[in-house]
Amino acid sequence: MAEMKTVLSGIQPTGQLHLGNYFGAIQNWVKLQEQYRCYYSVVDYHAMTMPYDVKKLRTNTWDMIFSLVATGVKTENLFIQSLVPEHTELNWIFNCFCSYGQLTRMTQFKDKSGQVKDGGKDEFISVGLLDYPVLQTADILIYRADYVPVGKDQEQHLELARDIALRFNTQVGKEYFVLPEPLYTDTPKIRSTADPSRKMSKSAGEKHYINLYADEATIRRQIKSAVTDSGDTPDGKMADGVQNLFEIIKACGWDKEYRQLTEDYYSGHLKYVDLKQVTADALVSLTSQFIARRQEINADKKAIKDQIKQSSSDIRTVAQKTLREVKELVGLLNV
Ligand code: AMP
Ligand code: TRP
Repeated sequence: MAEMKTVLSGIQPTGQLHLGNYFGAIQNWVKLQEQYRCYYSVVDYHAMTMPYDVKKLRTNTWDMIFSLVATGVKTENLFIQSLVPEHTELNWIFNCFCSYGQLTRMTQFKDKSGQVKDGGKDEFISVGLLDYPVLQTADILIYRADYVPVGKDQEQHLELARDIALRFNTQVGKEYFVLPEPLYTDTPKIRSTADPSRKMSKSAGEKHYINLYADEATIRRQIKSAVTDSGDTPDGKMADGVQNLFEIIKACGWDKEYRQLTEDYYSGHLKYVDLKQVTADALVSLTSQFIARRQEINADKKAIKDQIKQSSSDIRTVAQKTLREVKELVGLLNV
């Protein structure tokens, strides 16, 4: 049998998961566990790159762990980045295999440093924010990951990881690192239901995202008020807001309903109230399982915390092995 391929992905511990995170990334994380050796990380070092509240980071990290476990991410595949400090040591080594100019050209750096300026937060742009994609490269390469499931917005960071891997391999004269490939889901972009011209996102404000753990009434209310057809869509093209609801129904696995509603749409019989009703039903039936599981976890948080500390320590041994080999290859000493 061919050797099992490796998958790595990460998510920042910034509060709660929304439907965009789930359908764009996490749903795929759960599926991939059946087929690959998976490493999934809550990247708390990355969460320090923007101005943040030191009192909240640790709680947010655990909350993200609990949310992920409740959706079906296995604890043995899940770890906390700062419990594997080798990532940051490899980060330093990679800093020396990455050009400053390339980092200043990253779209995310430009966007986020722009946000800091616009927010008037004394214009503090950390070196960490510039270096963010190099730490991300270390996250990926330290497990020699073949595939990285992420949303489309991470494409440029994946290219950088490949560049760094290639430069490293060339300089040390050995094909040591695998060049990682991104894996996209069938739902790479969920739109805001309040404004379907933009993606669902927390940073845009409360009405622009639906919390995966929202209660039933809230989900129904948010879907009921979803913008469907604003009337300016060219004939024959489905409006973004309508398509978004279809995408959600499909992503929930409600194929029969999806097919029926699509037929109704093309025969001109679709009523948007019905489309919304089915969307809300599909979501509630999916998320109610997560909420139930989350309540079980809340009743015994310590059990999950212990498992994650253990898995982080197990996963760390893989990272340590890579780092030792890398230090050997670049001419550093090992203790
Ligand atoms: P973020 O919350 O932006 O750090 O994203 C975490 C993960 O969710 C990344 O893999 C993103 O690409 C993905 N993601 C975030 N928002 C959306 C969205 N609206 N649609 C699809 N995927 C998303
Ligand atoms: N930058 C990613 C995001 O914003 C999070 C991340 C950090 C990541 N390290 C990673 C994703 C490694 C994939 C692999 O979503």
